[in-house]
Amino acid sequence: MALPEKLNVLELFCGIGGMHYALQDFEVKCAVDINTVTNAVYQHNFPSQLLAQREIQSLTLKEIENLGVNTLLMSPPCQPFTRVGLKKDLEDQRTDAFISILQLLDKLSSPISYVLVENVKGFEDSLTRDQFISILSKKGYIYQEFLLTPLQFSIPNSRLRYYCIAKHQSKGGHFVFPLVEQVQCKVPDEALHYLLDGHKYIDIDIPENSQTCDTNSDVQLTAEQITSAIDNDERISLLGNFLESSTQCASDYLLGEKGKKHYQGLDIRTANSRNSCCFTKRYGHYFVGSGSFISTGNKLEDDTLELRHFTPEEIARLLCFPQKFRFPDSTTRKQRYRSLGNSLNVYIVANLIRLMTLSL
Ligand SMILES: C[S@@+](CC[C@H](N)C(=O)[O-])C[C@H]1O[C@@H](n2cnc3c(N)ncnc32)[C@H](O)[C@@H]1O
Repeated sequence: MALPEKLNVLELFCGIGGMHYALQDFEVKCAVDINTVTNAVYQHNFPSQLLAQREIQSLTLKEIENLGVNTLLMSPPCQPFTRVGLKKDLEDQRTDAFISILQLLDKLSSPISYVLVENVKGFEDSLTRDQFISILSKKGYIYQEFLLTPLQFSIPNSRLRYYCIAKHQSKGGHFVFPLVEQVQCKVPDEALHYLLDGHKYIDIDIPENSQTCDTNSDVQLTAEQITSAIDNDERISLLGNFLESSTQCASDYLLGEKGKKHYQGLDIRTANSRNSCCFTKRYGHYFVGSGSFISTGNKLEDDTLELRHFTPEEIARLLCFPQKFRFPDSTTRKQRYRSLGNSLNVYIVANLIRLMTLSL
């Protein structure tokens, strides 16, 4: 097996840097995002990183060619592909930046070797996806699409996401696994051997209710409905391994009166649970369908359980951000939840980058 080459990366829609943390043996030549809040978080963690605060539509062919990158990582806005975002797809202006990059990919004189895209479930059925795939095919890439959730990597969190990894044919016409036309809902058997050491991959079917807590979901199910057999699958880590040990957070993050009104609809977990809902950008100010709540073990006077929010640090841990990841003091709690809700599972992306760049 050939050693993976060093990746020179253009990280677009970089947010708080989930893609950056997923990389090994790399140089991020440039990261780009328009959001001042997430850019402050990114820069806090990567102070010497070139980070361009600008509209991605304003990037020119020449600028990209001058960067000399061989890898393009993107997680474009997902609202155009969700029900709450009205699934406007190409007609949603938030898709424009991604389309402008596809147009540049089409015109590049020398193709970028590797392209990875992450988005919500729903993207795979969009016209935007069709345009993306059509450019990949036209420009001579092989590609594989996936729908994966951290539960399959024994991480107690549901976050079903679309991923596409693409490699230019000049880097070899195959991955370490056979290509299939359909979106893969599992890591192919042939690829298992190459996964990173860390969270163990387990062969589970993606639970049907994974969608219920998806970003911007408008489906509101009760906690009982959401809790599935997955919660008892002993191959998945206990949530307790991802929780703060300090009792301070219990009091700082307790559910207020407003939250208690939604008690019946909340997804309630304990340290012994083996699943949690997808934490969306609404967590912290919406209750039902925005993410899970944890029982402190105490009972309240009205006989309900005392509950608290997951802390941003706990959510970052479930997303597999490294321990060293920090928010600057200036980032408010609401902004922390929002930016984590928009981010991604670092461990899954790290594995996909590996599968994308390995050659036999
Ligand atoms: C789904 S989030 C990506 C999150 C990122 N992967 C992370 O780990 O935090 C989409 C990001 O795209 C940025 N964005 C959306 N439209 C943009 C545009 N036209 N130009 C630059 N950035 C844009 C948003 O600010 C947001 O941070």
